[in-house]
Formats: sequence, C-alpha cells, structure tokens
Amino acid sequence: MSDLIHPLTWDREPLSNEELVSRGRRSLLNNVTRIPLAFVKGEGAYLYDADGRRYLDFLAGIATCAFGHAPPFMAELLRRQAAKLVHVSNLFFNEPMVLLAELLTERSGLDRAFFSNSGAEANEAAFKMARKHGFDRDGEKRVRVVSALNSFHGRTMGAISLTGQEKLHKGFHPLVPGISFVPYGDLGVLEKTVDDTVAGVILEPILGEGGIELPPEGYLSKVKKLCSERGALLILDEVQTGLGRTGKDFAFRHFDCLPDILTLGKGLGSGYPVAATLASEEAARALSPGSHSTTVGGAPLAMAVALELATRLLNPAFIKEVEEKGRYFKEGLEGLAREYPSVVSGVSGLGLLLGMKLKSESAPYTEKLREKGFLVNATAVSVLRFAPPLIINKDEIDLLLRALGEVFGTK
Ligand SMILES: Cc1ncc(COP(=O)(O)O)c(C=O)c1O
Repeated sequence: MSDLIHPLTWDREPLSNEELVSRGRRSLLNNVTRIPLAFVKGEGAYLYDADGRRYLDFLAGIATCAFGHAPPFMAELLRRQAAKLVHVSNLFFNEPMVLLAELLTERSGLDRAFFSNSGAEANEAAFKMARKHGFDRDGEKRVRVVSALNSFHGRTMGAISLTGQEKLHKGFHPLVPGISFVPYGDLGVLEKTVDDTVAGVILEPILGEGGIELPPEGYLSKVKKLCSERGALLILDEVQTGLGRTGKDFAFRHFDCLPDILTLGKGLGSGYPVAATLASEEAARALSPGSHSTTVGGAPLAMAVALELATRLLNPAFIKEVEEKGRYFKEGLEGLAREYPSVVSGVSGLGLLLGMKLKSESAPYTEKLREKGFLVNATAVSVLRFAPPLIINKDEIDLLLRALGEVFGTK
C-alpha cells in the first residue's frame, strides 16, 4: 500500500511525448528553447523519452549527472536520509553538512564551506564575500569585481551581472554596478584593470558556455599572483569543471592556481540541487553572522547526497578513469577533425568536458545526432559540447564517434 496521493508515472502508462510537450508549452514559462522531447526514465548513460525511444546522453543534464541517470545508490541514499532527517535550517549544525565541509575543504586546500542550492547562488555568495572583503579592507573605494568577456556564472541578477555576455543582459538593466569585463586570457588587460578599487576577480578555469576555451599557459597562476599582490580575491567558478569533470579533482590543479574562493555545483548533487562556496580563512572572515544565508541550503538531505557523491567523485581511481576516457574521446574527436577539415576547425577541453569547433553553426548537427539517438549540446553558436556522465564507457564513446563521422560525412 502506498501513502502517495498523486498518481505519478509509476502507477499508470506515461503521457506521450506529444502530449507532454504541448501541455508543457502551455503551462510552463517560455524562458528557454526547449527541445520537443520529454524524458521519463534513465539508466546509466541512457535516457528514455515518453514514447520509449532511447538516447545515449552526452549532455548529462548540462554536465551534471556524473553517475548517469538514476544510479541505484541515489535511490538508496535518498530513501535512507529522507527517513531520518530532511531539513533543519542553517540555525543549527547537522552531521552530513559538517562532514561534507570537512571533506571539501580538506581536498581543495581551502578552509571553510557555505552550502546553497544552485551554481548561481554559490557565485552570489562568492561575489558578496569578495565585495565585503574589499569593503572591510579599504571601505567603499574597493568594491569593484572583474570578470571575463564570454564567461557564464548563472542567471540570478548578481550572476548575470558577472556574466560577460551582452545577450544575457538585454532587457535586465540596471545590472549590479561595479563590475568590469576583460578579455579572457589577456593578462596585460587584467594588469591594467586590477587596481586598488578591485575587491575580486571571478574566472572559470575553462570557459564552458563560452565554447570550452582553455586559458593560455600560465595565465591563471599569474592572475592569482596579481590578485594577491594587489589585495583582490580570486574566485574560480568550478560549478562546471569541479569534482572530476576535467580529469582532476578540481580544474585549478591543471593550472597550479589555488583560488581564494571556489564555487561548485552541478556534479556535487548530480541532479539534486546543491552547490558550495569554499573559501580561504582570509576570504571567509568577510562574512560574519547575519551577512548571508539561505533557508534550505545545507539541509541534511542535500548534504547526505552531496557527501556520498563528493566521496565517489574525489576517489583518485575514479578520476584517473575520467582522465583516460577523456583522452580517448579527445583523440577520437581529433581524428574526426583531421578526416573532416571542411566541417571541423578544432577540438578543445580536458577530461570529459570537450568541445568541437565547427566551421558553421552547430545546432543542425545536434539535431541530426538526436535523430540518430544521441544527445549533444550546441554552445557558443558553432561549438559541439560533450559533457557526458563520468561513468560513460569507451564503447559508448565509440558509438558517438561513429555517429559524428556519419553526420559529418553526409553534410
Ligand atoms: C561555470 C558556471 N557557473 C555557474 C553556473 C550556474 O549554475 P546553476 O545553473 O546551477 O545556477 C553554470 C551553469 O551552467 C556554469 O556553467
């Protein structure tokens, strides 16, 4: 006997794709370009739509579902923790929250953690911390924050204000003031910009939404040095790149650049809404009691999920496998780039966060791939972004490489 009163899909035949799409188009806010597919179940790297069609997923809920879809351990974890304790608020401590803070600070080399519910919120906390740190140091003179053109930091007002893409600002002015943008990777411009009015610099270690662009050699460590010398905090947004995605525990390891503040999300909850802002003791001092919080952030249920996931994601053997599979995948993509030079102009990325720059718009290719049963994301107009579940295997990677070859060959 069930105590549940809503007859969800486990009690009856699911609605069809067409019905869900048309009803969704009427009842949901029209705020994103939704692909006309409704998924009803997943297993490993596969998703099944409401009509029973199967897709091999190289998007993973936008670089999020690290262990694929509906991993059995998540069901067990949610059931056990939900039966014990769901939420108490930040007015108290709870065990999984303390254990997760210890794990993430110990593994990252930072000192303190704050938990929230989305990547944007993690960046909001980082933004406030940096601004307050500057204010505590030099008063209202030092409150500017510097970000990169082409960056992406989320959709709240603070996060879009930090995001260096004009198209995402349109119609939302006035934005949060005191933010300047510099070209990503240009140390000379940053040197001229970071003066004694700058409280913080926020950067992605790899531009994700901006087309999987890596920083030039030595850039990030020099930015860190510059920030330290000039009294600004460096925030690295690892919402997308953190926790194994790039074949290292944190992407900043590739670039030898421990930031003052680090933000995490996506894989940390792998679909459960949870995010983290980690900070050095110096940066963390800026936020005193009453200066920042969230009601549900850090709730025992979310923390238990994230503790299990982070423990699995930070396992060195797991990360090594991601690194190896990423190398294999990248070599395959590079092979295709050589085979189809009129279609592909380059391959970029690290670990299982890879991009393929095309010579034309990438959206028509994602459509053709979808017809063949593969989910791939188009970003930055002409880039195919591959961010599969980290448990993807080489046979599944081969299936996509073959499909890409077919799609490029029948241009
Ligand atoms: C680098 C980066 N930061 C922040 C965000 C925002 O995260 P969320 O959508 O969970 O608010 C994203 C999401 O794509 C991201 O890629």
